[in-house]
Amino acid sequence: MCGIVGYVGRTMDDTALEVVMEGLTRLEYRGYDSAGVALVTDDGIAAEKRSGKLENLRSALDAHPLAASRTGIGHTRWATHGGPTDGNAHPHRGGDGSRLALIHNGIIENFHALKKELLADGVDFDSETDTEVAAKLVGREYDRVGDLTLAMRSVVQRLEGAFTLLAVHADSPGVVVGARRNSPLVVGLGEGENFLGSDVAAFIGHTRHALELGQDQIVTITPDGYEVIGFDGTPAEGKAYEVTWDAAAAEKGGYPTFMEKEIHDQPHAVADTLLGRTDDAGRLVLDEVRISEEQLRAVERITIVACGTAAYAGMVAKYAIEHWTRIPVEVSLAHEFRYCDPIVDGTTLVVSISQSGETMDTLMAVKHAAELGAMTLSICNTHGSTIPRESDAVLYTHAGPEIAVASTKAFLAQITASYVLGLYLAQLRGETYADDAKSVMAELQGIPDKIDELLGRMDRVVEMASFMADTRSVLFLGRNVGYPVAMEGALKLKELAYIHAEGFAAGELKHGPIALIDAGQPVFIVVPSPEAPHELHKKVVSNIQEIRARGARTIVIAHDGDDDVEPFANEVIRIPNCSPMLAPLLAVVPLQVFALHLSTAKGLDVDQPRNLAKSVTVE
Ligand code: F6R
Repeated sequence: MCGIVGYVGRTMDDTALEVVMEGLTRLEYRGYDSAGVALVTDDGIAAEKRSGKLENLRSALDAHPLAASRTGIGHTRWATHGGPTDGNAHPHRGGDGSRLALIHNGIIENFHALKKELLADGVDFDSETDTEVAAKLVGREYDRVGDLTLAMRSVVQRLEGAFTLLAVHADSPGVVVGARRNSPLVVGLGEGENFLGSDVAAFIGHTRHALELGQDQIVTITPDGYEVIGFDGTPAEGKAYEVTWDAAAAEKGGYPTFMEKEIHDQPHAVADTLLGRTDDAGRLVLDEVRISEEQLRAVERITIVACGTAAYAGMVAKYAIEHWTRIPVEVSLAHEFRYCDPIVDGTTLVVSISQSGETMDTLMAVKHAAELGAMTLSICNTHGSTIPRESDAVLYTHAGPEIAVASTKAFLAQITASYVLGLYLAQLRGETYADDAKSVMAELQGIPDKIDELLGRMDRVVEMASFMADTRSVLFLGRNVGYPVAMEGALKLKELAYIHAEGFAAGELKHGPIALIDAGQPVFIVVPSPEAPHELHKKVVSNIQEIRARGARTIVIAHDGDDDVEPFANEVIRIPNCSPMLAPLLAVVPLQVFALHLSTAKGLDVDQPRNLAKSVTVE
């Protein structure tokens, strides 16, 4: 959700504002309801904040420049408590003469009780936010103890919920203090300057040396160093790591939008996720999965927990893992899992899938699974994020930074990692039950080139999107692994083009949804390869006939050379041939491209659709 930046340098010039604004630009995808900055200057705190996108803040700063500074914090907001107004935007102020500024990501659950206490003490509030309560408390505590770290420490012990807080004080130039509980915060280590950020994108233009913080920790940065302590005051050490991608990876690279760039990154996302996961003999080696082979062999069931697009990757994973291992796999939306009295024990492997590694619903599901005694494994794209840290093991996807709010390349990388996991489990348990793991891996290695080829064939899809801008409703159908692809196609269209869209299992149509079909209703149908087992291909072709007979406009996604679909299709979008299980990696691409271009045709903001935020760090 919100994006947070903190900076301290040595020289008293405009650096702090520049660095903070650059960080906010890279983090805007995390929330874009409002934005604000606070700097420690020779004349005290200088701050500016504005509702709306970062651009509004930038214009305000151009009109009224702030004084030079070497210490600053910045925030881009996704509103939770209090609407997206100038007043509710962060930073919030506290202490004598409002000499403290504080920003926050998360939700302080006990803020009502704390606010009541402060109101009773005569403290006035300028906003409706939970954040301002923390600002008033830390400000008051600073006035008592005269030390920002100590003030932060005594306040965080009173807060309940999930939060990252950053604070600066006019009397402490050259110091930024951060605290985190169940919400992300990373440290960037520079030369004579240090950084804090919700994620490494905040400072990737300056340093690739990063420090991961643990749960319930406070970090104090100065230009020359940093200090980490626990909420209880015990000294702690962060975990240092190098960010493997550079600033260019978090830029548009010549594409008009991040989403378009990320769709074109997909061949790399798949290739990099496969990299280094087989030995010379072609056997899978997953050294990073720190659950013993013996424990993995003893797994009796698998539950996948995830949300949104990641949950659709989980549905693909279910088909693949069950097919290759015969281990029963269940997919649970993470926000449902915790409240459905799940049947989970020491023989269950709970696999979470998350791009950000910060989705609160998924994190809570993982914690709940661990409490119930399950083994937990995270498939994640963000190094050092909370979910992998809270899990027994992690299998990283290597999609690189995903900035567009709608997920694309992370989805393909998640599916790829799920295949790798399924094949690895099958190998451990004594060969796959269905296919030869080596040949599946060999075929997977060829998928990036096929995605590349497919991306070169998208002209007709782009054209269709441009003349369908007035469409009010689109349906998507698929069966087997095509079903989650249909769901994902519908989700992309909803979130990017604000069009009503539904994904169905094609076989379900005649049990009700077929009533939606009337003349001209556009329906995308994801057709399995003619090689799919159980005559699946034939059955989907019949489904196309059924809806075409009722007047639907059928847009068929079919493999090269599949002529059976031609008589019943208004449009055919061809994908390169591959085995049925791997087809989601190709079939989803035209649906992503369609949603992207329909959104563009409607003049909408592709990268930052309304009401959304990239990582949902509240439940
Ligand atoms: C849709 C989308 C979301 C995310 C979901 C989970 O385009 O991006 O549905 O997939 O919020 O996010 P992560 O993967 O970060 O846990």
